[in-house]
Amino acid sequence: MKRDSYCGQVTREQIGKNMTLCGWVASYRDHGGVVFVDVRDRTGICQVVFRPETGEVYDLGRGLRNEDVVIVSGELVKRQEGAINPRISTGEVELIAARATLCNKADPVPFLPGGHETVSEDIRLKHRYVDLRRRPMTEALMFRHRVTKLMRDYCDEHGFLEIETPILYKSTPEGAREFLVPSRLSPGDFYALPQSPQLFKQVLMVAGMDRYMQIARCFRDEALRSDRQPEFTQLDLEMSFVDREDVIGLVTGLIRRLWHELLHVDLPEAFPLMSWREAMDRFGVDKPDTRFAMELCDVSAIAGQSEFGVFKDAVAAGGCVKTICVPGGATLSRKQIDELTVEAKQFGARGLAWIKLGGDAGAGQMGGPIAKFLSPAIQQQLRHAAGGADGDLLLAVADKQEVGWRVLGELRLKLGHQLNLINDNLWNFLWVIDFPGFERDEATGKIAARHHPFTAPLDEDLPRLESDPLAVRAKAYDLVLNGVEIGGGSIRIHQREVQSRIFSLLGISQADAEKKFAFLLDALRFGAPPHGGIALGMDRLIMLMLRRQSIREVIAFPKTQSGTDLMTQAPSPVEASQLSDLHLAVVGLPASGAAGIKPSVPGSGA
Ligand code: AMO
Ligand code: AMP
Repeated sequence: MKRDSYCGQVTREQIGKNMTLCGWVASYRDHGGVVFVDVRDRTGICQVVFRPETGEVYDLGRGLRNEDVVIVSGELVKRQEGAINPRISTGEVELIAARATLCNKADPVPFLPGGHETVSEDIRLKHRYVDLRRRPMTEALMFRHRVTKLMRDYCDEHGFLEIETPILYKSTPEGAREFLVPSRLSPGDFYALPQSPQLFKQVLMVAGMDRYMQIARCFRDEALRSDRQPEFTQLDLEMSFVDREDVIGLVTGLIRRLWHELLHVDLPEAFPLMSWREAMDRFGVDKPDTRFAMELCDVSAIAGQSEFGVFKDAVAAGGCVKTICVPGGATLSRKQIDELTVEAKQFGARGLAWIKLGGDAGAGQMGGPIAKFLSPAIQQQLRHAAGGADGDLLLAVADKQEVGWRVLGELRLKLGHQLNLINDNLWNFLWVIDFPGFERDEATGKIAARHHPFTAPLDEDLPRLESDPLAVRAKAYDLVLNGVEIGGGSIRIHQREVQSRIFSLLGISQADAEKKFAFLLDALRFGAPPHGGIALGMDRLIMLMLRRQSIREVIAFPKTQSGTDLMTQAPSPVEASQLSDLHLAVVGLPASGAAGIKPSVPGSGA
């Protein structure tokens, strides 16, 4: 018996037809005579009626319980008036069971996929096969399929070739910590899982493929959050003979197509461009959420003239004073402000200065502990610079530039949510460009690449590479949506000489570079076209499109915050013989009970 229709797709037009449906019992109601069973598949549900006069079929129907798997055939009829359910698409019809097969009887499930009870995420992940039957999860996976298909179609139309690249790869310094895979055939050697197909796609450009795309799995052993997984998926792109504008234009077109076809939203033809520096100065972060204002304001010139020691000293020491003006914030209680201060300190501030405008202090006046150190003239200038009005709250941080950005950038976001300043209906896209190419690693004092070491510097900054590397900007760009970085890429270096200069700047010796990237340096020698590309984080993109709170809601089998797969119980200990085949021993484990370490690991306690 094959299905004639998916359950959720039967229509009024099919009334009078005999048809077969297949699926899971979503609910059953025995009305002492007639039995109603909702049969569910990935498209939705259809009501099936078992009538006493059908004998064995009726008996089968009466015995059905949640999540049993059935195949039912019969006539599709119109429901009686009064029995119509306008809330579901199949609510006008029902199938009168004439034949039925019970394919599989299900044990009582740990939770009902159609139920409204709240189930912990751990239980959902452990029994993901049940969880994925829930409507929102099924819909997310179906939506994800459509996104992927549309991306492939779009890329195909634009001349991209889909090419697979290896998963067993080589350790390269792209930034995050890598997952290693021991080699049995070459004892003591390791593959690394790719953080991205970065170098392969560049090599493909040298190979003349011109345009490459891949829905690529990437692996990064980093601290996990709601928008980070140890393995995640990118739409990975690379193109030859292009510059930044070409990549930006192509991806903008793709995003517009996705929004148009899947969300029925027409986005503007171009998204705003913002330099990294402007993003930092105005929003304190390199992925600004521009759905609300409350922008940062540098008031160093004014605050440095005040009698408030904290401000004066910070400015005198070459630091700065930055503020945000919280609209209506003068109503925040002392306790709420103290909480903000605690938070500010967690982000690295030494303190948080606050000034209430108006309120108890009187119209046009300033209140709070530091107001008394500010002369009327300074107060006036501050209020004007920060764009504050009576009823607002000024929050200020006096510190190094980076600290001011970070602390106020974070507080701005927190307050934006807390005070409901964010319009959830907006889709605010933004290209952030002109990133600094390099940064100083605070721990080691070394210069590090901000994107990856294959990113080309802006041509006009190239002469400063050795003399003032921190002032060198990169041909890198990020795509930001509503404050989330959904993609990043760059124009690459296609000249061996420039690549070598960058390696030496990064303290990667010629010998080291040869050892690690001989293949790339060789490739650059043997005819590399100018090229560039980008990768979009598919999980984040789909999470935002569906307005979900975590990428785990749009991934079939995600890992928990501690990196475990609760369904398969990975990672898990392996047999001692597997380890010895690999010439590996597990040593120096932390005391048992430590996060993620299971005491049964062979060799534990060694
Ligand atoms: P990048 O490292 O910026 O660039 O990654 C591209 C995009 O991938 C997403 N992303 C993640 N999503 C979920 N979990 C993670 N742990 C995670 N890490 C990153 C983000 C990010 O914008 N090879 C370069 C691209 C290039 O230069 O072409 C790269 O991987 O949305
Ligand atoms: P103190 O002089 O340390 O008692 O601080 C006086 C006020 O200034 C308190 O409200 C502190 O939270 C605040 N404050 C201290 N250091 C800073 C700073 N670096 N930036 C902003 N405010 C600060």
